[in-house]
Amino acid sequence: MATILVTGGAGYIGSHTVVELVKAGYDPIIFDNFSNAKPAVLDRIKQICGRRVPFYAGDIRVYDQLAQVFAQNKIDGVIHFAGLKAVGESVNKPLEYYDNNVNGSRVLLQVMRDYGCKNFIFSSSSTVYGEPDALPLTEQSPIKRANSPYGQTKIDIEYMAQELQHAHPDFSVVLLRYFNPVGAHESGLIGEDPQGIPNNLMPYITQVAVGRRECLSIFGNDYPTPDGTCIRDYIHVVDLALGHVAALNHCLDKAGVHIYNLGTGVGYSVSDMVKAFSKVLGHELPHKFAPRRAGDVVACYADASKAKNELGWVATHTLDDMCRDAYNWQKNNPNGYDD
Ligand code: NAD
Ligand code: WQD
Repeated sequence: MATILVTGGAGYIGSHTVVELVKAGYDPIIFDNFSNAKPAVLDRIKQICGRRVPFYAGDIRVYDQLAQVFAQNKIDGVIHFAGLKAVGESVNKPLEYYDNNVNGSRVLLQVMRDYGCKNFIFSSSSTVYGEPDALPLTEQSPIKRANSPYGQTKIDIEYMAQELQHAHPDFSVVLLRYFNPVGAHESGLIGEDPQGIPNNLMPYITQVAVGRRECLSIFGNDYPTPDGTCIRDYIHVVDLALGHVAALNHCLDKAGVHIYNLGTGVGYSVSDMVKAFSKVLGHELPHKFAPRRAGDVVACYADASKAKNELGWVATHTLDDMCRDAYNWQKNNPNGYDD
């Protein structure tokens, strides 16, 4: 089976994808600099998979560190998760974001080209669509100037990879635009472990649930939506991981640019999320309304039919599954991988 280099494979989505790659018979190799991950995740992956997954500590911005992996292994394809992802932080640290994300991706693509590896799968984001003109979002929806440096790096990397494919037509470039990944592996062994105060909704909710934080602030209840709170397309991280396996199965060695939305196609409001989570918890999650957060779009959800028709992939986990698995992970690991 094919050997797949997984940059950022120790991170949240990367670790879940490594598990599903092993299950599907691929041979993943993890490459990560641990800037936002803990080494403990490697043991957890081993516990789930029943075998150790090869691992290199390195930074995608350092050519020689990546080149060593390609020199020592025949890499058939790369799934590229490595990067910085905090929208708010990127506003204050734009240069760090362009360096890590855009420059890091450039170095990675250069190493791939030099070593004749032609399969590239990239973690893009629904953020490239900006504030949508129409919903649901299809892959044809316009790309809008991003409202954060983070979002702009995703747009820049998408263009860079497409331009490389144009120059080298035998490349297969897959751009996967994720909606809002949440939840955790059902074993409760791996999950999302943000450092500091969580920026994203689900980890904030789970930390309130285990008593690490007092109360969830819902940012805005005066949006033009049925209950006044923002709407998103939350997708279980295991479904997302399986989307990568489906993309590999379908696009490996298939020259061209392949773009897919990975979402459920269903939008839920923040209040829906609180209700669903409270059901799993068995009592109401402490929450209050707070002012709007700058930069939030009102509503965003996918038309995921292209991935269904071409990859044979659909998200199957329900909102209850997402809440149950996220809570299970946080309950088992109240302080994340520090335990
Ligand atoms: P994460 O921070 O958990 O994982 C990223 C991993 O990359 C971390 O393990 C980190 O240590 C590593 N890394 C960062 N910079 C690196 C570098 N220069 N060299 C080597 N390793 C490096 O994030 P995640 O949620 O798993 O996201 C993975 C990818 O998916 C990111 O590119 C992110 O932008 C993208 N994405 C995430 C979401 C989301 O909501 N989580 C949504 C859309 C897209
Ligand atoms: C979801 C909803 C908040 C926290 C971000 C990135 C996006 C993508 C996914 C990477 C919003 C509300 C949140 C809280 C709240 N990442 N909220 N209280 O902003 O949709 O997307 O992650 O590519 O690019 O922007 O996700 O989880 O932060 O917010 O009320 O404490 O929850 O206002 O409506 P978002 P999120």
